[in-house]
Amino acid sequence: MTELRPETRVVHLPQPPVEHSRPITMPIYQTSGFVFDDPAVMADAMGRPDGPFVYGRYTNPTVRALEDAVSGLEGGAGAFATGSGMGAINTVLFALLKPGDHVIAQKSLYGGTAAILNELAARFRVDVTHVSEADPDAVRRAVRPETRLLYLETISNPMVLVADLPGMCATARELGLVSVVDNTFASPVLCRPIEHGADVVVHSTTKYLSGHTDVVGGLAVFRDRELYDKVWHFSTALGASADPFAAWLTLRGLQTLGLRMERHCSNTRLLATRLAEHPAVAAVHWPGLPSHPSYELAGKLLPDFGGVFSFDLVGGRAAGERFMKSVRLALLAPSLGGVETLTMHPATTSHRSLSADELARHGIDEGTVRLAVGIEHPEDLWADIEQALAD
Ligand SMILES: Cc1ncc(COP(=O)(O)O)c(C=O)c1O
Repeated sequence: MTELRPETRVVHLPQPPVEHSRPITMPIYQTSGFVFDDPAVMADAMGRPDGPFVYGRYTNPTVRALEDAVSGLEGGAGAFATGSGMGAINTVLFALLKPGDHVIAQKSLYGGTAAILNELAARFRVDVTHVSEADPDAVRRAVRPETRLLYLETISNPMVLVADLPGMCATARELGLVSVVDNTFASPVLCRPIEHGADVVVHSTTKYLSGHTDVVGGLAVFRDRELYDKVWHFSTALGASADPFAAWLTLRGLQTLGLRMERHCSNTRLLATRLAEHPAVAAVHWPGLPSHPSYELAGKLLPDFGGVFSFDLVGGRAAGERFMKSVRLALLAPSLGGVETLTMHPATTSHRSLSADELARHGIDEGTVRLAVGIEHPEDLWADIEQALAD
């Protein structure tokens, strides 16, 4: 071939070989596709999750590093990463359900999940029955011949109810249902639902797994390879895949997950116990307190209770709004699981579309405040909360 012209050379840039040494951290493979020497190898790679890398919508080495890391932590046989937690949840639901199927889901669910279950019912005749998160007999009563799936959250939002994973997942298995558990609030440091019988674990990696409030992502982990392969194929067609840079940020955050969870939990313990004694507070919802409905179960299932809890202010909605305006260190913002403490008032934000009766059904008071506790010094956080309560 003749000497290439500059216009061609800038397209086909040299790539220095990395030999005899390797990068300490996982590089970002910012490429949408991969080059093959052999068309037969390429053809074979297209159809399976464990073949050579082909195309960014299927996976990518950086994304695969994250998938393998979380799958390993959760004790799964395989995982796929997505562009958001809802991307993972939707991919799993759409892959496993068809019109006419029936789902049993716990009553207290993340709002986005509750909304998509309503959509499935309205558009695809997928009926949903809601049960308590800790009542296997209710699952037995709700089951129908067309029931396919049991949907749970390890720790719910904002009342931090803990699901009876061993009892509920064993019942699902006995009844031939696939059990799907959202483990976002616990993270694999506090709970690994597959060890308690779950078939699929989903995560919003936006939260604790990435941990620094700088990335949106999701992930689904599977107990067995057969189910993983089936849903993986569907995921490649659905196109909810993760971006390599987002996967890289998540991997970097993941390295400190253990340390961060320790601090999230100990900070939360201090704040929840002190708030329980505070005269401006009517109730604290944290499973580490004997007054919480999940206290006994949580003690058996979890080594600690995570970094989110809520409390009801004596003065109702007005007190809740006043608290939001008065906190300085805790930021008024959505989301959770990052290093900084975030707060919100469910009655006027995340659950604003609910009537007073519906709020009561979710156990949410007009004065309920949610705190997603960060890793700051706990006494600084307490000082901020005390001054906001005194306002
Ligand atoms: C428990 C839980 N699951 C799923 C999601 C959805 O995740 P994402 O916002 O990454 O789509 C959230 C988001 O807040 C959540 O709290």
